[in-house]
Amino acid sequence: MSTTTRHLAEWKAKGERFTLLTAYDYSLAKLVAEAEVPVILVGDSLGQVMLGYSSTLPVTMDDMVRHTAAVARGAPGCLIVADMPFLSYQVSVEEAIRNAGRLIKAGGAHSVKLEGGEDMAEVIAALVRADIAVMGHVGLTPQAVHQLGGYRTQAVDSAGQEKLLADAQAVEKAGAFAVVLEKVPATVAAQVTKTLRIPTIGCGAGPYCDGQVLVTHDILGLFGDYKPSFVKQYAQLGKAAVDAMAAFRQEVKNGVFPEKEGK
Ligand code: KIV
Repeated sequence: MSTTTRHLAEWKAKGERFTLLTAYDYSLAKLVAEAEVPVILVGDSLGQVMLGYSSTLPVTMDDMVRHTAAVARGAPGCLIVADMPFLSYQVSVEEAIRNAGRLIKAGGAHSVKLEGGEDMAEVIAALVRADIAVMGHVGLTPQAVHQLGGYRTQAVDSAGQEKLLADAQAVEKAGAFAVVLEKVPATVAAQVTKTLRIPTIGCGAGPYCDGQVLVTHDILGLFGDYKPSFVKQYAQLGKAAVDAMAAFRQEVKNGVFPEKEGK
């Protein structure tokens, strides 16, 4: 059975917690689907994880379409959410619709995610009117890293908490089907989760959100440049990969591989 945006609302109604993981390519998307994670986010974090940039800002629409299409081929039963990259939706509503449309038509995504609250409500509403399902993203919004002065925790004082709630409510009112709360205190995320009708998805926002999202390369120990404080590593695949490659190098050097029979 394929996951749809309606499932997230049903899970919230039933109090059933759910998960999202990122994927950027066919092979990893297949593994995420095999692990029965129902929703895949093709995050613009691919800028750091796949392309080696120091932020998400250089990621282009072409990057997102290409990676989204690969993920969609690998996980046909998952709900695929594709991030709209920096400046693909901020310039005008028309450009936002055209770019979101590319992620759906050429990328095979089922929905798009964009960052921003009250300031992006008009764009979200226009996308929803164009029948494009939208996931919001408030709190720490990495595309605004220079405006925010770094990747610090948001909504730490009462003004910030009021803003977070107002942003999340604006996203809901504009028609988004869910909203990511990134790097905000757990108690604040709990209050937003209680107030909203749409599901909240926490990313460094504590245990009281309806769903949780993390970067797959982080939880598998595959990305070593940095590790956000809220990430739990469930495996050390980076180390396993290095060990395997070193074993191959050593066996070739020692004449152990390939075997004489030509396997
Ligand atoms: O780009 C991304 O991977 C994200 C999540 C971590 C929320 O936006």
